[in-house]
Amino acid sequence: MEPMNIDKIDNMDEALLKIQELEKRLKDIEYRIPKKYPEVKFLTYKDRKRILVTGGAGFVGSHLVDRLMMEGHEVIVVDNFFTGRKRNVEHWIGHENFELIHHDIVNPLYIEVDQIYHLASPASPPHYMYNPVKTIKTNTVGTINMLGLAKRVGARVLIASTSEVYGDPEVHPQTESYWGHVNPIGPRACYDEAKRVSETLAYSYDKQENVEVRVARIFNTYGPRMHMNDGRVVSNFILQALTGQDITIYGSGQQTRSFQYVTDLVDGLVKLQNSNYSLPVNLGNPEEHTIEEFAVIIHKMVGGKSHIVHKEAMEDDPQRRKPDITRAKNILGWQPVVSLQEGIKKTVNYFRKELMRSKHSERNLHSPVDASNINKVHKAGDYNDF
Ligand SMILES: NC(=O)c1ccc[n+]([C@@H]2O[C@H](COP(=O)([O-])OP(=O)(O)OC[C@H]3O[C@@H](n4cnc5c(N)ncnc54)[C@H](O)[C@@H]3O)[C@@H](O)[C@H]2O)c1
Repeated sequence: MEPMNIDKIDNMDEALLKIQELEKRLKDIEYRIPKKYPEVKFLTYKDRKRILVTGGAGFVGSHLVDRLMMEGHEVIVVDNFFTGRKRNVEHWIGHENFELIHHDIVNPLYIEVDQIYHLASPASPPHYMYNPVKTIKTNTVGTINMLGLAKRVGARVLIASTSEVYGDPEVHPQTESYWGHVNPIGPRACYDEAKRVSETLAYSYDKQENVEVRVARIFNTYGPRMHMNDGRVVSNFILQALTGQDITIYGSGQQTRSFQYVTDLVDGLVKLQNSNYSLPVNLGNPEEHTIEEFAVIIHKMVGGKSHIVHKEAMEDDPQRRKPDITRAKNILGWQPVVSLQEGIKKTVNYFRKELMRSKHSERNLHSPVDASNINKVHKAGDYNDF
């Protein structure tokens, strides 16, 4: 094949064609080279576990899979690819310790495993509001199926719960002993209440069937492989900055948010699973930053021609949610360690690469429903902060 002369690329269309051509060439080359995998640790059969990760092709799940694979375990991912993507775990496909099963957990699953991380569930409002009944089924029937599997094979199961079980909290910061303030018929109820039932199911199986359960109440998480258009502050700002649009702050920008970086969360999940503590544990970053701070950091990091602009405050901008992580610190010796600067830098790099993909369909811009339509049905604030 002829070498390409970069100087000749003088307009965007031509550049895109060249990128497509390069991508095709790369695919051809990759096809011919035997696949290389990251070097995983060797574990003897006594230490090596068979671990099921439901939702393992999603944002958090795929990072957890990376961690468990690198530790030398056998990992089975079960996913229906509603919001997850094969690409998130493609670097493991074909590895002898890895298996990917296309399966919807609303249906029973019969496999042999030692541990289960039950993460399957849409996580962001546009996704879980797309099909509320399905969201409820996944978190109730799906959870029963996973707890049933754990009971049959004697596996320990970790349920990925959420800070949303606290609803619109009247207590700040939230400790695990707070029972929450959830509207059972509001737009978020399909997720919040289903996750609450998921927790109830876990403790019922624990009490009645002696299933070993762990419950992680996960707070806002960000990082590479997150959905780029999920409506969260971090993704919104990065996307706006990278595409040269104005970075929009609603209101004064002095309202605060707290986000944990995904590898910190994974660390907490693994520690919790392997602990001997069965009550719920908050996993989140208690460090609050103002919206203005997020905007400034991202603006500086990305550069470009975006400006930070202020728009009218949103009606019903929900209360902030901040975890009390005393329990995680005391019981697991866990706390977040990745700084906001470092985390955002990695996330910006990921978003940048995604946007460079020539095919729009290959970018991580998954949205089963036009978010603007949800806005019309529910108030924007209903899902803008989570
Ligand atoms: N990301 C966060 O900030 C956050 C916060 C709180 C709780 N959580 C919880 O963590 C878990 C993972 O969240 P995420 O951010 O990685 O979301 P995600 O949407 O990226 O991943 C969820 C995965 O579950 C899969 N899935 C959904 N329904 C399924 C079904 N019926 N059968 C099989 N697979 C199914 C999806 O295809 C996807 O791969 C979820 O349970 C979520 O509720 C996440």
